[in-house]
Amino acid sequence: MKKLIAGNWKMNGSAASNAALVQALLSGSSDWQCLVAVCVPAPYLAQVRGLVAGTGIDLGAQDVSQHESGAFTGEVSASMLQDCGARYAIVGHSERRQYHGETDAVVAAKAQRALASGITPIVCVGETLAEREAGRTEEVVKRQLAAVIHANGHCISEIVVAYEPVWAIGTGKTASPVQAQQVHAVLRAQLRAASAQADRVHILYGGSMNAANAVQLLSQADIDGGLVGGASLKAADFLSIIAAAQ
Ligand code: 13P
Repeated sequence: MKKLIAGNWKMNGSAASNAALVQALLSGSSDWQCLVAVCVPAPYLAQVRGLVAGTGIDLGAQDVSQHESGAFTGEVSASMLQDCGARYAIVGHSERRQYHGETDAVVAAKAQRALASGITPIVCVGETLAEREAGRTEEVVKRQLAAVIHANGHCISEIVVAYEPVWAIGTGKTASPVQAQQVHAVLRAQLRAASAQADRVHILYGGSMNAANAVQLLSQADIDGGLVGGASLKAADFLSIIAAAQ
């Protein structure tokens, strides 16, 4: 399967810097052998849709409402994202679980809404440092993924999973390729138990992925791509990660 490299811009950017970043990404050949996406802040979906139209870059959002429509001030629905050209939506990022109290059930509902609108949810799972040190990594990621499998049953092969150890996000500490592969293998086995199509599911690694560590991480058997934060804001670094995935 082709690898998928997705940038998560988080709450960064401006109309001017978005245009400069996308132009820099597209300045070489964008005839990549892997799938590439950028997950941008909601107000810039329309702008970036125009910038990436007809290129090798797909558009993604960073969140989606668990509700379909109605009196939910400030929320953005899956059908709105679809209307704006989004192919992907990140759901259950640890920053949303941590700062916005998103539970496993909410994350599962968000994944369901995305799928119902033809958007591929990028479902994030991952343990905190305290959970890892307590030997609970497997239990935590399996619980997080189980909620999404339970709610999405036969559609489960349509999702993307991202393993993002919380202690590796924005810290410069990366899971070693062996540590990451161990967790990816657990997630793959869980997907296989749920679906005969599990081998189609991209399982991305996220957490301080950069130009220097991408080749080794991406060479692991069950690491099918990356969800890249900080390094996706620098064109040269993001292009190096894309090159590592070819
Ligand atoms: P960093 O690559 O900045 O560690 O962020 C990872 C992440 O959270 C991607 O969703």
